[in-house]
Amino acid sequence: MAVTIKGTGSFLPEKVLTNFDLEKMVDTSDAWIRERTGMSERHIAENDTVASMSTEAAKKALEDAGKDASDVDLIIVATCTGEVMVPCTACKVQAEIGADNAVAFDINSACSGFLFALQTAAAYISSGMHRNALIIGAEMLSSIINWEDRSTCVLFGDGAGAAFVEKCEEGRGILSMAHGSNGAKGGVLYFRKKEADPAKEDEYEGKDAFVHMNGAEVYKFAVRQVPDCIEKVLSDAGLKASDVDHFVLHQANIRIIEAISKRLGVGMDHFPVNIEKTGNTSSASIPLLLDELNKSGKLKDGDTMVLSGFGGGLTYGACVLKW
Ligand code: UT7
Repeated sequence: MAVTIKGTGSFLPEKVLTNFDLEKMVDTSDAWIRERTGMSERHIAENDTVASMSTEAAKKALEDAGKDASDVDLIIVATCTGEVMVPCTACKVQAEIGADNAVAFDINSACSGFLFALQTAAAYISSGMHRNALIIGAEMLSSIINWEDRSTCVLFGDGAGAAFVEKCEEGRGILSMAHGSNGAKGGVLYFRKKEADPAKEDEYEGKDAFVHMNGAEVYKFAVRQVPDCIEKVLSDAGLKASDVDHFVLHQANIRIIEAISKRLGVGMDHFPVNIEKTGNTSSASIPLLLDELNKSGKLKDGDTMVLSGFGGGLTYGACVLKW
């Protein structure tokens, strides 16, 4: 059974933190951040939570799809920064929007989260277990950042994006999907909920409850693994990279996106980006970009898209979707 995205929505907190603001906080510069990452500003949640941002994005996705909350069968929130562990953020969203008929749960696979939520929803819907799903990627990375560490604090932002997913006619929607994980490399990007006991050794170097990243290792992983995964889904769908109208990739670094465009031999005009304004929002980045494209009318009926996420775990995934 074919499955597609019927509506999208997003939410960005009001406060904007610019590179110039960061210059006043740590030893960095607007030029370094722009050249190395492509970012100029990011949104930071002050009065919002992961649950409230998810709820706003979810309501807009339902509106875009022309659905009522009572229609929703399944809610999946992809997040690694929810303020409350139990109950999960998806249950909070269910209560807030009044989706009384839905089952709700979270998944945590960092920056691949939204892609994995989409694949999970597609699997449930094609199995016949649920008719539809509201999937959300939402993060408040500002809550887990060490604001004195210039190597990480300039990179991340907050926000949420959502999509309503439903069955569709054959030959449309998701044409192929693939995903993978490499847990042995987990130590290159991690954060722990509370500070570790300094007396106890573990595989993670940092003892504090902040994001730690070996940026160069994650970079290398992304530019090798993501094009391979994209080539696999394209080949499974019987397509070539040149057949794709839009590559909607996780927005981690403009140089990663440029390297992937080069590897696939497809110009950057097929790689929409919003990293300049949002920074890296982890699981929110793909649905934020998707909603921007959808609402600005850039997605035409029948366009071929590749969605691809990658990050902590390490995890990665991609799918081909006919809009
Ligand atoms: O979403 C999850 C997945 N995450 C990613 O995909 C991130 C992947 N990695 C990256 O995007 C890049 O590796 C970074 C943007 C994190 C770093 O860029 P880089 O070109 O790999 O820089 P680097 O870490 O090799 O650092 C180069 C220099 C260093 O100085 P020295 O040792 O050459 O003197 C750093 O100390 O830049 C320095 N540096 C900074 N300078 C100014 C690191 N952070 C900053 C900063 N401002 N904010």
